Amino acid sequence: MKVLVTGGAGYIGSHTVVLLIEAGYDVVVFDNFCNASIESIRRVEKIVGEEITVIEGDIRNREDLHQVFNAHKIDAVIHFAGLKAVGESVEEPLKYYDNNVNGTAVLCEVMAEYNCKSIVFSSSATVYGDPHTTPITEDFPLSATNPYGRSKLFVEEILRDVYLANNEWKVVLLRYFNPVGAHKSGTIGEDPNGIPNNLMPFITQTAVGKRDVLSVFGDDYDTVDGTGVRDYIHVVDLADGHVKALDKIKNFTKVMTINLGTGKGYSVLEMVKAFEKASGKKVPYQIAPRRAGDIATCFADPSYAKKILDWEATKGIDEMCEDSWKWQRRNPDGF
Ligand code: NAD
Ligand code: UFG
Repeated sequence: MKVLVTGGAGYIGSHTVVLLIEAGYDVVVFDNFCNASIESIRRVEKIVGEEITVIEGDIRNREDLHQVFNAHKIDAVIHFAGLKAVGESVEEPLKYYDNNVNGTAVLCEVMAEYNCKSIVFSSSATVYGDPHTTPITEDFPLSATNPYGRSKLFVEEILRDVYLANNEWKVVLLRYFNPVGAHKSGTIGEDPNGIPNNLMPFITQTAVGKRDVLSVFGDDYDTVDGTGVRDYIHVVDLADGHVKALDKIKNFTKVMTINLGTGKGYSVLEMVKAFEKASGKKVPYQIAPRRAGDIATCFADPSYAKKILDWEATKGIDEMCEDSWKWQRRNPDGF
């Protein structure tokens, strides 16, 4: 089975490519490298011990996609390609709607032209907005507080409509919680541009000496210690969820919406403590005002993923921190 992985050079994509190849899938990576380096694919090649087919192109460009589908008989698409910076999406909403929403629409059109109707899409827990309670199940009300989140909501709706119009489509909407960690080799991992927005890369960059101090955004939330609680999930567990989703869609046609999380929430200060234990490094921090748009608590009910995909997260917080640190320590400046 040949799988097109859009955004396959990125953080989650590169880890998923490793697992797909290890599971025996043929993989074609498609990426415009707007937020990734070809070096990530070179390192994936070292991990799996084989050459990977990479096509540089943009999902919004039909010609680029025709090139892929003409050269390869693609059976399914795992669609990671997208922009993901919440703050930037507020500043430049049209860039997000063009890349994430229009890009997905173009991709689906070209897929249909070539009779490829299986897609696994990277959605996000952000589509739950500010959930009224936790843990979060897939039937919770949906909302968005920024253009990035809305782009995910829109794409979910578009893919549901595509299925309604033609029941031959197989659509899996995977709602990720907070991916962290890296491949156990320490050779691939998350490599954010500039100052990291997300907690774990900020912690690892502080520990490696690239940042002076972590700002903890708010200590007055109604949580265990006042700091925000999230469901951190090891990126390799997350990648495995995609392999399981792909195995599953061989035998069904419909839309499936699935949370990929661990079901356990950790506060910012618990993460700092776990990281210090795993790395032996002190992470200096200061309490800062709440970050606009943040919610107090967000964690998954992952039981549907267990039931439908026989998938569950296997890696705990210590391994997440150890692997994040190994990647950062060995690659202080990223790829
Ligand atoms: P990433 O930026 O590392 O990977 C995205 C990849 O897509 C990059 O390699 C980038 O170069 C590529 N890309 C972007 N626009 C493209 C386009 N128009 N054409 C071709 N390639 C393009 O991000 P990631 O963390 O690996 O996230 C992957 C997906 O998962 C994204 O869709 C993201 O929104 C979603 N997601 C991520 C998180 C997270 O916290 N990392 C959480 C929930 C959902
Ligand atoms: N935090 C800090 N200091 C930092 C960064 C983060 O205290 O420097 C705190 C946040 O306030 C929050 C927690 O750490 O309480 C996690 O923040 P992240 O930015 O790492 O993650 P979010 O849950 O805010 O958002 C992430 C992705 C979104 C995605 C969402 C749900 O960035 O794109 O998970 O999947 F939508």
